[in-house]
Amino acid sequence: MSRIRTPICDGLGIDYPIFGFSHEPDVVVAIAQAGGFPVLGLGRDAPEQIPAIVTEVERRLDGLPYGIDLMLPSNVPPQADLADLREALPKEHVAFVESLRESFGIKPPSKPSFFTSQARSEALFEAQIDAVLNSNARAIATAIGLRSALIQEAKRRDKLTISLVGSVKHARKALSMGVDVLVAQGYDAGGHTGSVGTMSLLPQIIAVAEGKPVLAAGGIATGAQILGCIGMGAEGAWLGTLWMAARENHTPKSLLNRLIASASEDTVISRAHSGKPCRVVRSDWIDAWAADAAPDPLGMPFQQVLTGDVFASIHEHDDARLIYEAAGQSVFGIEDETCVADQMHKLVHDMNSAWTRVRSLSDD
Ligand SMILES: Cc1cc2nc3c(=O)[nH]c(=O)nc-3n(C[C@H](O)[C@H](O)[C@H](O)COP(=O)(O)O)c2cc1C
Repeated sequence: MSRIRTPICDGLGIDYPIFGFSHEPDVVVAIAQAGGFPVLGLGRDAPEQIPAIVTEVERRLDGLPYGIDLMLPSNVPPQADLADLREALPKEHVAFVESLRESFGIKPPSKPSFFTSQARSEALFEAQIDAVLNSNARAIATAIGLRSALIQEAKRRDKLTISLVGSVKHARKALSMGVDVLVAQGYDAGGHTGSVGTMSLLPQIIAVAEGKPVLAAGGIATGAQILGCIGMGAEGAWLGTLWMAARENHTPKSLLNRLIASASEDTVISRAHSGKPCRVVRSDWIDAWAADAAPDPLGMPFQQVLTGDVFASIHEHDDARLIYEAAGQSVFGIEDETCVADQMHKLVHDMNSAWTRVRSLSDD
């Protein structure tokens, strides 16, 4: 297959301008092996577990380049003692969640997870940052928050710094801190988003990027969309939702079925997951928080302290009624279970077909 390449492909030594975000090491390894640039999300991992995860991923990658992503919002407490945070939860919210646990018959999770044992705090972030800087990742990406010290230290260690931005203001701040690559992540994206759609956001971010590479993220599920973004001036596309269809993601069966059955309209922005606006695929759990009788979700990290056990439980028990996950309007691209190699092949093939179509329309 012919290759459409952009300068960042040469800089990173990858075959295709496709960047894949995933929390799942198996997906990360498969994206790298298929010629893309994988970014391993470690924002849901306890700092003490990160070194082992990273060592194993790097062993399997065998020198292929990859990045790591952390989510570093500001306005979290300096320290987070879970018992103290639980004690501080408003009674109305605790009673509401208790009533949902009862009415939905939610079983407690059988094992601890990030969502039941950690709460986001400055101390947690510092420990995650230390663990990540010590990796051999070629790039460090951050979302929601920007940390100047991390950016400077990552650059000192010769790592590429990447920032996910949802507005021009956010992009300017990232550039002022010396970030190397911007990801223009639109409202269409799975996960925490701003309010501007990818199609409108991308040209605005490129206009202020001072010539630095910009990637497009949010709502992208086809190679033609990737080519369109490159035509607009992006150096590639950054995809998250699509990989949940891959076997390598080990997506719980009910969640996979929900994603296959979902249209873009079935993803909604909700604060019920983390306390911050986050695009997720709807389920009865998400809908329960949108009901008139529901209290407003708490802020970060309290909403997760309040509901983290529920998120862990509905995934562990593959609860068909309640299960949800961050997911973008790109969910339209999930039609069946597949694998990363086939997804990459399809994206590249579709990108080439779109290029042929565009060329056939030119009178050159
Ligand atoms: C399940 C899931 C979890 C995500 N978690 C994070 C995260 O921890 N950090 C981050 O920077 N982005 C996260 N994102 C957002 C992705 O990095 C990416 O911007 C987004 O998925 C792009 O839009 P798309 O989902 O339409 O492809 C997540 C996305 C999904 C679908």
